[in-house]
Amino acid sequence: MKNHPVIAAFQQAGQGQVFAFFDQLAPAAQERLLAEAAEIDLAEVDGLNRTLLAKNAPAGATLDGLVPAPYELWPEHGGDPQAWAKAKAAGEAALRAGRVGAFMVAGGQGTRLGYDGPKGTFPVTPLKRKPLFHVFAEKILAAGRRYGRPLHWFIMTSHANHAATAAHFAEHEYFGLEPGRVHFFRQGRMPAVNFEGKILLEAKDAIALSPDGHGGSLRALERSGSLDLMQREGIDILSYFQVDNPLVRCIDPAFLGWHILGGSEMSSKMVPKAYAREKVGVFCRQNGKTVVVEYSDLPGAVQDETDARGQIRFCSGSIAIHLLDREFVRRMATGATALPWHRADKKIPTVDATGAAVKPEKPNGVKFEMFVFDALPFARHPVVIETLRADDFSPVKNAEGVDSPQTCREDQIKQFGRWLAANGAALPPGTLPAVEVSPLFGYDEDSFAAAWGKLSPKPAVRDGLYLE
Ligand code: UTP
Repeated sequence: MKNHPVIAAFQQAGQGQVFAFFDQLAPAAQERLLAEAAEIDLAEVDGLNRTLLAKNAPAGATLDGLVPAPYELWPEHGGDPQAWAKAKAAGEAALRAGRVGAFMVAGGQGTRLGYDGPKGTFPVTPLKRKPLFHVFAEKILAAGRRYGRPLHWFIMTSHANHAATAAHFAEHEYFGLEPGRVHFFRQGRMPAVNFEGKILLEAKDAIALSPDGHGGSLRALERSGSLDLMQREGIDILSYFQVDNPLVRCIDPAFLGWHILGGSEMSSKMVPKAYAREKVGVFCRQNGKTVVVEYSDLPGAVQDETDARGQIRFCSGSIAIHLLDREFVRRMATGATALPWHRADKKIPTVDATGAAVKPEKPNGVKFEMFVFDALPFARHPVVIETLRADDFSPVKNAEGVDSPQTCREDQIKQFGRWLAANGAALPPGTLPAVEVSPLFGYDEDSFAAAWGKLSPKPAVRDGLYLE
């Protein structure tokens, strides 16, 4: 067995340690290890070892010529209301024509939340405790009804959560969506390496593999046949969002319109940073390209810079909401240009020379990941538009504190409260009552206003009010 071609290739690449315990394994475990090994692109790993792991590897992004990226101002912040209205009309026309698909990335490991199971199954709404998947499903269902074209929904999972994700949807009868329009596909995996570039084993019979980052979605869309399916269905734009953010307007006509009218291949939403050192990536321009620079790559002094009006200069926070053209994704996935890889030093559970499990206390190796926003500099005419944080962004990242289930529930209640107040409902003074609006009743200001307008008699706004 040791002369198996996969083993030979690993030995030749200096990665023979992956098979150090091979002879001790039962045949089924040997097969599994070989299958995992066959998934690895050794040339790619070698390239990363030579670049990202090299002693003289450049640290982070270069700041040469970096300036803030321009963006379309929100109408109430000085944007042109007519241009926004025109964009909205164009986006609505695209939705009515069935040109738009929803795309959610849900392949992350969700380590910070520390929840057992796919993050999308985490109960998130204030009253009904609907899981994240349920919220998005109802928004997508409602948008499809509103525009007379049911939407296709592409969902990227990981090896670890694929089966549980699909089972959750099946168990809940796809939350009312047509099963034939919900498409799950797994993202790729990358092996972790030690600081010498040697691929690590997680156990004697398993390679330390982890998801290749949300940027892996571009190649996964292509490999899974999703782009071909889109083409057959006449879908040419994907509305990209993350599984952890239930506030997102995942189908947003104005955003779609800015993208279409701007002839853009990839567009993004920004929110003004809450404070100079907020830990978000920042939209910038560099050498005529739009880029997102991670906060960790921006020196504190640059983050603190202010403009002539005393406003934060690099203010455009990225909130991981994008639009992607189908053929742009295809070009990124198959063409000569590819997303760059990033390294993250991590504590990676592994085995020692005797095969005994090791739980490191400090980082012992490197994981490689791609980020979807790194596609922006390759896109033609990228557009960045402003949005309101309160209406688009409240992620569940941590178990407690900022960006936690608690803050997210509060932000949902505030949003429902704003919709109610804007439509003339009387809110009791003091703390907002805990109310919940089903996306099937209203999933944005417009759909809420329409449904509330028709409601007779109007219910009193009090704790426990659920509008469905
Ligand atoms: P995060 O960067 O918050 O990572 O992902 P995470 O893995 O979910 O959580 P932590 O860092 O371990 O706590 C942002 C979004 O990108 C998706 C996640 O599912 C989430 O929707 N993602 C991330 C992927 O789909 N694949 C990945 O490899 C990484």
